[in-house]
Amino acid sequence: MVYDLIGRKRENIVLNSENWKTYNAAGRKRIVVTKPLPGDLWLNRLIDADCKVEVYTATDVLGVDALRAAIGTRCDAVLGQLTESWNDALFAALKSAGGKAFSNVAVGYDNVDVEAATRYGIAVGNTPGVLTETTAQMAVALTFAAARRIGEAERFLRAGKFKGWMMTLLLGELLWRKTVGVIGAGRIGSAYARMMVEGHKTNLIYYSPHPHPDLEADIAAYADFLVSRRQKPVSCKRADTIEDVLREADCVSLHAALNESTYHLINAERLALMKENALLVNTSRGPLIDEAALVEHLRKHPNFRAGLDVFEDEPDLKPGLSELDNVVIVPHIASATRWTREGMATLAAGNAIGVLSGCPAWNKPDISPFLAEDPPLASPSIINAEALGLTLFDK
Ligand code: DGY
Repeated sequence: MVYDLIGRKRENIVLNSENWKTYNAAGRKRIVVTKPLPGDLWLNRLIDADCKVEVYTATDVLGVDALRAAIGTRCDAVLGQLTESWNDALFAALKSAGGKAFSNVAVGYDNVDVEAATRYGIAVGNTPGVLTETTAQMAVALTFAAARRIGEAERFLRAGKFKGWMMTLLLGELLWRKTVGVIGAGRIGSAYARMMVEGHKTNLIYYSPHPHPDLEADIAAYADFLVSRRQKPVSCKRADTIEDVLREADCVSLHAALNESTYHLINAERLALMKENALLVNTSRGPLIDEAALVEHLRKHPNFRAGLDVFEDEPDLKPGLSELDNVVIVPHIASATRWTREGMATLAAGNAIGVLSGCPAWNKPDISPFLAEDPPLASPSIINAEALGLTLFDK
């Protein structure tokens, strides 16, 4: 059925095959969008920029051959998904179709061979700044769901096993004035740390290749505030090693990007360093954890708990994981709030429009102007802007 996401230019909507919908067929630039995106701002902006927008509407993940076919012989830009492998072959295809931009509708871009894109002169965009609090909140939600056995308790109740209040029923862990460990203290990791420290008066130990003076200063100021209120202060420490975090923390949340050095960052040896009743939370990327080793560890240590939004072989789970009661699992929804997902779509469209219009690349951390009316004449976030020699918005 033909439908109009934005309620205008209906006459230009063409249903060209079962799984593709075309908006603004008269547009002069051809944009391929590999999955439906929420909201309509992204689409309005592409249409206003004279783009013909072709959206793949089915839920299956397009493989390399299907993506190559979608690019065809003429394509100016693609808005793609983190579930797709954007490799050398696809960038070669995009280049020969006249493409100039690939916009990953995600902040993480481990699915993109940025080096290959750069070689073909293709700008690669991502969507930072709109997922920070949303994803950190999911990490907090998983932390407490695991600590307080929410999944297990809900299954218990739904199964009709609740026979009345009982002192010993489903005892969990109290995360108050405990120590939280964060591995990777970028935007999301820092937001999670602040939520845990300021909301639950935990201490923080973090591991990050670079120090985060703003985070440390904020926590020091909060500690001073607590002292001024005659309360025990909180502390913040940057660990020398990941091992130090694992040994010391009561709860460890992973916020590192996936690359060769972070693949299986949590393995059997490192799990063995963690406290027997610790919590492990992952909202970053599944392969950060050796999931088979985690299953084994959870089996052997019933008081150890995990909260996972992402999985090593997504969408599949390693055998045994879903049968364990001491793990809470959700299907990669950490950024799934309407505001965030619409923001991601808008930034992704903005990246394509900015590159195709020859605009400079935005180089400030605050991307909020792109969500407002009259966005800046810039591409909000181009990962390889410098490597491509693109003009920067604010030099
Ligand atoms: C991202 O943007 O990288 C997230 O994983 C989506 O939730």
